[in-house]
Amino acid sequence: PVVTVLLCAAAYLAGSVLFALPVCRLWKLPDPRAQGSGNPGATNVYRTGGWPPAIATLILDAAKGWLPVWLAHASGLSVMVQAMVALFAVTGHMIPVFYHFKGGKGVATALGAGLALAPVTTLVMAAIWLLVMWRWRISALASLIAIISGPIISAFLEPKTLPLFGLLAILIVVRHRNNLIRLAQGRETGL
Ligand code: G3P
Repeated sequence: PVVTVLLCAAAYLAGSVLFALPVCRLWKLPDPRAQGSGNPGATNVYRTGGWPPAIATLILDAAKGWLPVWLAHASGLSVMVQAMVALFAVTGHMIPVFYHFKGGKGVATALGAGLALAPVTTLVMAAIWLLVMWRWRISALASLIAIISGPIISAFLEPKTLPLFGLLAILIVVRHRNNLIRLAQGRETGL
């Protein structure tokens, strides 16, 4: 239990580091919170800085989801505890203690956490993301379709992780509410 509490706290703190911000400083780019969609995430970093800083943001935001879940797994903790750690990391990114609880949408962090806990499901979801992105070039649409597919795919491939993917889908869809409104109005900006 002590390890569980420590890992959940560490996951929340790691999740609270919005890597888009140091990455943009490093690349001498403007604060992503004041540009484009205003979201501190890889997609919005791409809008101002192109691929290299966007990929760096994606990898670092994914790593902060992956590492605590991997540590929980390596410590021999149950799938349920690993899922809890994953949710703490994603919640950290969404409501970060270091940035007045104003964070991002959690897609990259969920990707990292998912790869550690349910790699097959997560890779299928990533393939769906890429397919939607290739067809429509709208990151939010790709994220929404991929994350909503999560519970369905995990039910077949990694059923123990279904509750995690269900909760992730709810959290991430709620965080995309402005994107959903823009999509419905046909004015969502793509990449
Ligand atoms: O992962 C975030 C993405 O789904 C949408 O980002 O900047 O277009 O709101 P953005």
